[in-house]
Amino acid sequence: MLGLKLPTDPRWVNIVEKNIEEILTDHAFCEQKATSTAISFIVSFPEYTDLVQEMTALVKEEISHFKMVHDKIIERGWTLGRDRRDDYVIELTKFFPKGGSRTTQLVHRLLYAALIEARSCERFRLLSEELEDQELAKFYRNLMVSEANHYTMFLGFARKYGVKKEVDAKWQQLLEYEAEIMSKLGTSEAIHG
Ligand SMILES: [Fe+2]
Ligand SMILES: [Fe+2]
Repeated sequence: MLGLKLPTDPRWVNIVEKNIEEILTDHAFCEQKATSTAISFIVSFPEYTDLVQEMTALVKEEISHFKMVHDKIIERGWTLGRDRRDDYVIELTKFFPKGGSRTTQLVHRLLYAALIEARSCERFRLLSEELEDQELAKFYRNLMVSEANHYTMFLGFARKYGVKKEVDAKWQQLLEYEAEIMSKLGTSEAIHG
């Protein structure tokens, strides 16, 4: 599923279950960052008209996810906490060398975005299947479907704007690298922790 090379250790859900408040805060900020990423594609690559159109729709969708998570936090009598650094994303985005042509930069950013969406989707699926809290499990099942579409959309744009063969090779290398990062994670109550 999703091309990921290493599935998340299901015991990660046990860690999450002990601190739902923390995972919801972390998740809310994932949605905020997804919104910011979509805006940054518009700012950095305005001449890619179809990308700008899709990113505009994505901004709305991701901020609506943020609201859904925020509402869930309020429903449960909590307050949104502070954002924490996402070591997974920091490590992941070190993979491709900086520089290169504009198209290369665009392709690299699209591949990072595709992978972050794919991993988030996999984590949401795990939560939807394993959480004891049925209401929250259902919440994650619905979100999982949206994130799967985002993953294919980003990957599709990378293949469209780059040279397909090169893009596919880079995608495979990035998947291998991501599996290495992931092998050291699965230990904290964070969506990518
Ligand atoms: Fe989202
Ligand atoms: Fe997304």
